[in-house]
Amino acid sequence: MLLHLDASARRASFSRRLSSVYAETWRAARPGAGYVYRDLAADPVPHIGEAWTELCDHILEREITDIARYPEAVRSPAQHRAWSVVAPLLDEVVAAEVILIGTPMYNYSIPSALKAWLDQITFPRMSLQGRSFVVTSARGGAYGPGTPREPYDHQERYLRDFFKGHFQVEDVRFIHAELVNARLDPALAHLRDQHEESLAAALKEAAR
Ligand SMILES: Cc1cc2nc3c(=O)[nH]c(=O)nc-3n(C[C@H](O)[C@H](O)[C@H](O)COP(=O)(O)O)c2cc1C
Repeated sequence: MLLHLDASARRASFSRRLSSVYAETWRAARPGAGYVYRDLAADPVPHIGEAWTELCDHILEREITDIARYPEAVRSPAQHRAWSVVAPLLDEVVAAEVILIGTPMYNYSIPSALKAWLDQITFPRMSLQGRSFVVTSARGGAYGPGTPREPYDHQERYLRDFFKGHFQVEDVRFIHAELVNARLDPALAHLRDQHEESLAAALKEAAR
């Protein structure tokens, strides 16, 4: 199954365009493999609350690592309500073979809509081994190797570190469309061609 998430606040979004190209290609190559779509911006998941932290603490304290045993942590009505948010999100993640995330860079990092989803579905020592992540991203600037802004990329670095460090998933691919701000910002007009090249390469890669 392909779990496809989008996190851009806008409809005319490059990260959405790339993720939809990837999803179309994936689905055409694997008819019947299953597909679930979630728009985290249009249909946001709530931030975690106190009852969620109680579920998490219980899972940590009891050393529960089997996701199927998480419901054991649900004891109070508030925890039941918290679990009713988590359960469908987690079911989708567990069932997925590939988790595709279309996300912009916001303020050097990821949108809060995506972070809220990550907070909901992440529990102590939770492994997602055997799955892979594909991240289609758009950024206003350029953050590739050797660029002056490379050290400020807390979007790819954060997701890559988190997927590896927490979920033990190293099969993570990033497809970036860069310099999107060159379309609008007169000060970056001279980088417009570079943006078009980056976008064309990203669309080609997503279709592959
Ligand atoms: C709230 C906000 C914060 C942004 N922060 C950054 C940033 O830190 N670095 C950057 O290069 N571009 C930044 N941008 C530009 C976006 O990354 C760029 O517009 C991108 O194309 C957005 O993705 P989308 O096309 O999928 O909506 C920001 C845009 C917004 C709306």
